[in-house]
Amino acid sequence: MKLMLALDVEDKETAIRILDNVIDYIDAIKVGYPLVLPYGIKILKEIKRYNKEIICDFKLADIPATNEKIAKISLKYADGIIAHGFVGEDSLKAVIEIAKNMGKKTAVVVEMSHPGAVRYMQPIAEDLALLAKNLKADYIVAPSTRPKRLKKLKEISSLPVMTPGIITQGGKIEEIKDILDEKDYIIVGRAIYQANNPKESAKQIKDLIG
Ligand code: XMP
Repeated sequence: MKLMLALDVEDKETAIRILDNVIDYIDAIKVGYPLVLPYGIKILKEIKRYNKEIICDFKLADIPATNEKIAKISLKYADGIIAHGFVGEDSLKAVIEIAKNMGKKTAVVVEMSHPGAVRYMQPIAEDLALLAKNLKADYIVAPSTRPKRLKKLKEISSLPVMTPGIITQGGKIEEIKDILDEKDYIIVGRAIYQANNPKESAKQIKDLIG
């Protein structure tokens, strides 16, 4: 299992301070709207110097033409992008194709980790896992907060997973450890960047998944 830091802080100085502290213990950095909206996508150039995989989490959910544009701009700076599956095959295909053309990766959200996802996303999640498989996506995003669902969605898609929800949302590493392998990522945000000692927290998590 690999550790992906969700760098959801809103100012650059904090982002750099956290990265300087935890960089030895993380494998990838996930950047989303909290950091990119204030500074623009070029903030990723500064993060690139840490030499870790960078994943853009913009949860693309638009028509194919717009999804393609956002993916193309983001993937100039990042190694991978997260897109929603529920918007449909054409929208998702647009992202996967542009990513493949650029030699980059696409992760497809099939079921989210928060409680609200149970009502609307869970009923279609297995279908979305199959769609991700059929379109030859690179990863699915599935919840650590529901280990049985995580296992099932991973099996259906036959793809590696990126799984959020660890610690702060209630997901427990010991409950998902046996489901995941070396190609999978756990995504951890607040439990690291809001910890009193982010370095120690990242180290502890890395030791646990090690
Ligand atoms: P925390 O602070 O809860 O952060 O460790 C989790 C990170 O993951 C994102 N997140 C998700 N992303 N599907 C996704 O694609 C999900 O189900 C999901 N749940 C959480 C969240 O935005 C944060 O960056």
